[in-house]
Amino acid sequence: MAMNPRLRKLALTAHVTSSVGWLGAVVVFVVLAVVGLVSRDPQTVRGAYLAMEPTGSFVLVPLSFASLLTGLVQALGSTWGLFRHYWIVIKLLINVVATVLLLVHMQVVGHVADVAARAALSGGDLVGMRVQLLADAAAALLVLIVAVTLSVYKPKGLTRYGWRRRHEAR
Ligand code: HEM
Repeated sequence: MAMNPRLRKLALTAHVTSSVGWLGAVVVFVVLAVVGLVSRDPQTVRGAYLAMEPTGSFVLVPLSFASLLTGLVQALGSTWGLFRHYWIVIKLLINVVATVLLLVHMQVVGHVADVAARAALSGGDLVGMRVQLLADAAAALLVLIVAVTLSVYKPKGLTRYGWRRRHEAR
C-alpha cells in the first residue's frame, strides 16, 4: 500500500533517525569496549563496562527494532517493495542478523557489567569476553556502514521476483 508523499517523508525521517542513530550508538559501544580493554585505571574500566549495559538495553536494542520496523514501513509503503531490490533484501538481512546477535551480545555485556560492579577488573579478567565485545561491536559498525552506503547509492540490481513484477506491470 503506497503512502502519500507527506506520510512517506515522515516515515523516512523516522527510519533515517533510528538507523543512523543506531550506527552512532554502536560507535559509542566500540569506544567503551576499547576503553574497557586498554585503560589502566580500574575506575575507568569499571565505568566503561557499567555504562555498556544501559547503552545496550535502552539505546541499541530499541533503535535496532525501530530501524527494522520503520525500514519495513518504507519498503512496503512505497514502490520499492520488500523483495524486489537486492539492496533492500541485503539491508533486511543485515538488520535481522545484527539485531539477533545484539540480543545474544547483551548477555555477555550483562555478565561483564555484573562482575565489574562487584570488583575492579584487572587486565586479564574475562579478557576473552571483553575482546569479544569489541570484535562484535566493530563488526556491527562495519555492516551498518554497508547498510547506509547501500541506502544512499541504491544499486540497481533487481531480484527474480523484482523482474517478474516489473514484467507484469508492463
Ligand atoms: C540495517 C540498518 C539500516 C540502515 C542503517 C538504513 C539506512 C537508511 C538510510 C540512511 C536511508 C535514506 C537513504 C536516502 O533517502 O537516500 C534509508 C532508506 C530506505 N531504507 Fe533503510 N536502513 C536500514 C534498514 C532497513 C531495512 C531493514 C529496510 C527494509 C526491510 C529498509 C528499507 C529502506 C527503504 C525502502 C528506503 C528508501 C526510502 C525511500 O527513498 O523512499 N532499511 N535507509
